[in-house]
Amino acid sequence: MKVTLSVIKADIGSIGGHIQPSARLVETVRTRIADGGKGLLLDTYVGFTGDDVAILMSHTRGAGNEGVHKLAWDAFIAGTATAKAQGLYGAGQDLLKDSFSGNVKGMGPAVAEMEFEERPNEPFLLFAADKTDPGAYNLPCYLGFADPMVSSGLILSPKVGKGFTFRIMDVAYTEGDRVIDLSAPEDLYDIAALLRDQERFVVESVRSRATGEIAAVVSTTRLHNIAGKYTGKDDPVMLVRTQGNFPATGEVLAPFTIGHFVAGFMRGSHHGALMPVPRNTGTSFFDGPPIVSCLAFCVKEGKFTEAADTFAHPYWDYVRTKTAAKSEDLRRQGFFGPAMLPYSELEYGGIVERLSAMDAKFRVLKSRKEEVTA
Ligand code: F6R
Ligand code: MG
Ligand code: MG
Repeated sequence: MKVTLSVIKADIGSIGGHIQPSARLVETVRTRIADGGKGLLLDTYVGFTGDDVAILMSHTRGAGNEGVHKLAWDAFIAGTATAKAQGLYGAGQDLLKDSFSGNVKGMGPAVAEMEFEERPNEPFLLFAADKTDPGAYNLPCYLGFADPMVSSGLILSPKVGKGFTFRIMDVAYTEGDRVIDLSAPEDLYDIAALLRDQERFVVESVRSRATGEIAAVVSTTRLHNIAGKYTGKDDPVMLVRTQGNFPATGEVLAPFTIGHFVAGFMRGSHHGALMPVPRNTGTSFFDGPPIVSCLAFCVKEGKFTEAADTFAHPYWDYVRTKTAAKSEDLRRQGFFGPAMLPYSELEYGGIVERLSAMDAKFRVLKSRKEEVTA
């Protein structure tokens, strides 16, 4: 049977700052989805990562379905009402438009969707990240789908070894979806040249070259581009099918041991090491660190099993300690150099105003002997 997985997520309010949603908020969204999903959806899962609530839905209506998107939007509106009633911080933060118009894309919430013919057994992973942006998945996708040093299936399994096609999006382009399709291994260096720039070029999807099947989809929204100003980081979600013709679950998880540096720590303006965390984990230190959760499911005729919480395993305790140490090291240099994001990525207007005010005071010295003016 052909099934669609849709994950739609938004930050609609949080306890104690940008930390985590309240239990009542999450329950409001869950109830709204359960009620409104009757006759529309096959199954649902609602959870949170940091201050973002993710709604996972299975159905047979294809990607971009208006009814499915409207239900998610309405659930976020209902959650926002709870957030306002409780006085949560940033209530409705990611709902950037006043009324729903057919599709939540471009309205604030992040979306990742895939439609596929269900295999007899169909394992998949739901990733959700907070305090970062879609480029956070570039390195894990590159290593999991194109590097045999991490993904041994690329040399051990004939189907996996046929390689994968990456669709990469230029997220700086705002007129439409500007993409390029590149296939590993032939185009590996071109893929690498783009993906190194995590803020500009992001993996949008990955397909198997053996079968053409969809393997991964990433939400590529840049809130900054929609709102024209800082409204929070994009906090991306990703769906990945695993096993068989795809990398094994453990191969997809393996790159997350690196705790690579990503953008989005404190005020969306600093780099931090991406920490893998169990589901429903909030944030803390320096409004972070950047975190990622990963739930593993199987789906049969659209019905989900219970979730296996992959990063709750004890192995990741060591990784968490290591990534905390990496972030600590970078934090020691405050705003200097790579600790803070480059000017073009700074999300708060204050520094822009500060720099332009000073610009007028710059002067070219006629002689080195000119006196100090300040
Ligand atoms: C939000 C975030 C936070 C905020 C910071 C200031 O996801 O990362 O670091 O940017 O707490 O928030 P405001 O400007 O809302 O007071
Ligand atoms: Mg937030
Ligand atoms: Mg967030």
